[in-house]
Amino acid sequence: IESKFQTKELAGKKVVITAGGTKELIDPVRYIGNRSSGKMGLAMAKAAQNMGVEVTLITTVDAAIAGMNIIHIQTANEMMQQLQSIFPTVDVLIMAAAVADFKPLHVADQKIKKNDDEDFFTIKLTKNPDILKTIAATKTNQFVVGFAAETQNLLANAEKKLNSKHADVILANNVAQSDAGFGVDTNQITLLQKNKHPESLPLMSKDEVAQKFWEFYLTLVKA
Ligand code: CTP
Ligand code: CA
Repeated sequence: IESKFQTKELAGKKVVITAGGTKELIDPVRYIGNRSSGKMGLAMAKAAQNMGVEVTLITTVDAAIAGMNIIHIQTANEMMQQLQSIFPTVDVLIMAAAVADFKPLHVADQKIKKNDDEDFFTIKLTKNPDILKTIAATKTNQFVVGFAAETQNLLANAEKKLNSKHADVILANNVAQSDAGFGVDTNQITLLQKNKHPESLPLMSKDEVAQKFWEFYLTLVKA
């Protein structure tokens, strides 16, 4: 979409954005993934770039955008490592990635064979680190934005995430809605901030959501 900003109003700002679903390895040929397309994070990255922001995108998605520093990773642990080195140098973190909550406890060295005598197969999972919570706990002046993907009790659940993850803003979306969240080009976001009323945006394209977010951020920076 056409930016309503003619000038690079956020020139000089540095932002790191994560996008896409993590891929948690089971063996050399398999992983546990999720339905995230990475579109919301990519839209955030492009809109930021349009406003003059220096963007680093850490993603599982096969993307190439001119002028953008893109770091390709697969697992939550790799995402965490990259963020740990970049976070101290940025002004804003946007955690749009769908990080797997669990990963296989063991990654098999060889392709796992099926056993003709067994109809069931069990993979033991172990918790991934909460990247947002861990990274945001180390923040100095960074502005931290998280998402909340919910299928019920949107506001209550998103509010909990706002507080527990040390986020300045949570962008909550109801992923049970077919026109919001995973895989589609549209989203319907509710923006939560501490000590402010939640603001619900109408259903719009992910590019428009991204534009709205950066407009919102610009008003905060200018205030
Ligand atoms: N997140 C993260 N690390 C994880 C899980 C989530 O950094 N291991 C981040 C996501 O990128 C998102 C925010 O935390 O910005 C909320 O993710 P979500 O899946 O909605 O919440 P969870 O805290 O994982 O809780 P649950 O899935 O149980 O609702
Ligand atoms: Ca989760």
